[in-house]
Amino acid sequence: VSPELQVVLIAAASSGGVGLLGALLLRVSKRGSLRWTLLLLGVVAVAAMVAGVVATARAMFLSQHDLGVVEVVCGVTAAVTLGTCWLVSRWISAASAALGRAVRSLDVEHGQYQAAPNSLGAELDAVSRALAETSERLAASRERERTLEASRRELVAWVSHDLRTPLAGLRAMSEALEDGLVDDPGRYHRQLRVEVDRLAGMVDDLFELSRIQSGALRLSLTEVAVDDLISDALAGAEPLASNRGVRLTGASGAPLLIAADAGEMSRVLANLLFNAIRHTPADGSVRVVATADRPSGDVVVTVADECGGIPDADLPRVFEPAWRGTHARTPGPNGGAGLGLAIVRGIVEAHRGAVRVANIAGGCEFELRLPALHAQA
Ligand SMILES: Nc1ncnc2c1ncn2[C@@H]1O[C@H](COP(=O)(O)OP(=O)(O)OP(=O)(O)O)[C@@H](O)[C@H]1O
Ligand SMILES: [Mg+2]
Repeated sequence: VSPELQVVLIAAASSGGVGLLGALLLRVSKRGSLRWTLLLLGVVAVAAMVAGVVATARAMFLSQHDLGVVEVVCGVTAAVTLGTCWLVSRWISAASAALGRAVRSLDVEHGQYQAAPNSLGAELDAVSRALAETSERLAASRERERTLEASRRELVAWVSHDLRTPLAGLRAMSEALEDGLVDDPGRYHRQLRVEVDRLAGMVDDLFELSRIQSGALRLSLTEVAVDDLISDALAGAEPLASNRGVRLTGASGAPLLIAADAGEMSRVLANLLFNAIRHTPADGSVRVVATADRPSGDVVVTVADECGGIPDADLPRVFEPAWRGTHARTPGPNGGAGLGLAIVRGIVEAHRGAVRVANIAGGCEFELRLPALHAQA
């Protein structure tokens, strides 16, 4: 056996023995703290190295002096390395403790999070950033939930109030009929019929809105010609318009197609037209125009009336459920529950479109923007 091979064998045997022992210890301590594991790793590495060097040095029969030097060098290196190990393990355990505190500070209920200081090392910093993002998302979704919940409560309160008034009227009329106290029963019957229709419409709107808000609205999309939608809506609104002396006009540039649920989209146009007619004085006019927006290809439908404008402060609120202008928390003779525009917005957004309102000269204009057919397909 050559002397070089001897050296290799002695070094391997002695450091390997220590290393093996260390590996066993590390395995046993795997469930211990990160810090102790790191320290142990340092000790094992140093001990294996020292064992190898010292064993080889002794076997090579160095002079007493040289052996002493080797041992001193080994001792000093071991001390320095272990010191460094100790320091690093402290940093790492401090960083993981900081991250632990940050995790415990995450308050899901209030979406609060006390971020860890940004110097934990790349991996822990990444975890800490991910936590911060999660906590922001949590806070945002909590906030959304809270506003939705508040608006739902408000809606229920207002609508039940709105239902109570006509119900009280119905009861009074039916009691008067029952008691035979009425001179003109025909008029009462007609009035009963009108009120019942209005209530049915309100309940229907409420049902539609709750389907929209709960995400249960299922659109059956087909290829729909915008011209047909508009002419049907105009025909449906004509009786109300002529009754009120309002002129209805419609125009469209070219034949336009959208992918839409025809029934729901008709409801949108009807709601916009009825609002426009109701807010336009006799002899005024309501105009519906459809155009294709270039270059996006979006189909834009506008309904313009002569309502005299909506106060600027009210413009952002008109689409809120149950909101119906400054005057009147009680429905007028043909006033609704204030659900029409909330339904419009819900249906249009379910079609991945958008609706907005703006004041124009003498009135206001509602604009529907719907993605072109090819964009939806
Ligand atoms: N074309 C319009 N011109 C002027 N104001 C309007 C117009 N459309 C809506 N508004 C205002 O916005 C409010 C909300 O409209 P929305 O259609 O949601 O409810 P509503 O018409 O009062 O009741 P509903 O539609 O449920 O029968 C109206 O009460 C009205 O004050
Ligand atoms: Mg309306």
